[in-house]
Amino acid sequence: MKQFSYIGYLEHKIEHDDLTDKVMSLKEKYDKGEKALFSEVSSLLKDWLTNHILGTDKKYTPFFNSKGIY
Ligand SMILES: [Fe+2]
Repeated sequence: MKQFSYIGYLEHKIEHDDLTDKVMSLKEKYDKGEKALFSEVSSLLKDWLTNHILGTDKKYTPFFNSKGIY
């Protein structure tokens, strides 16, 4: 994205960074002994798949296709 100056790079990176923060927060909970995290993990993954991968990620397809990347 940076290499091709994708205009939505920063917003995209923020979403990825937010996911990283949430995963690290869940890991901290797990490491502290909170093992019943299925609901939180499931919700996080569902949100990521439906909103980010099927939404945000799909937005850059035409841009990169126009750069010869498929
Ligand atoms: Fe992404």
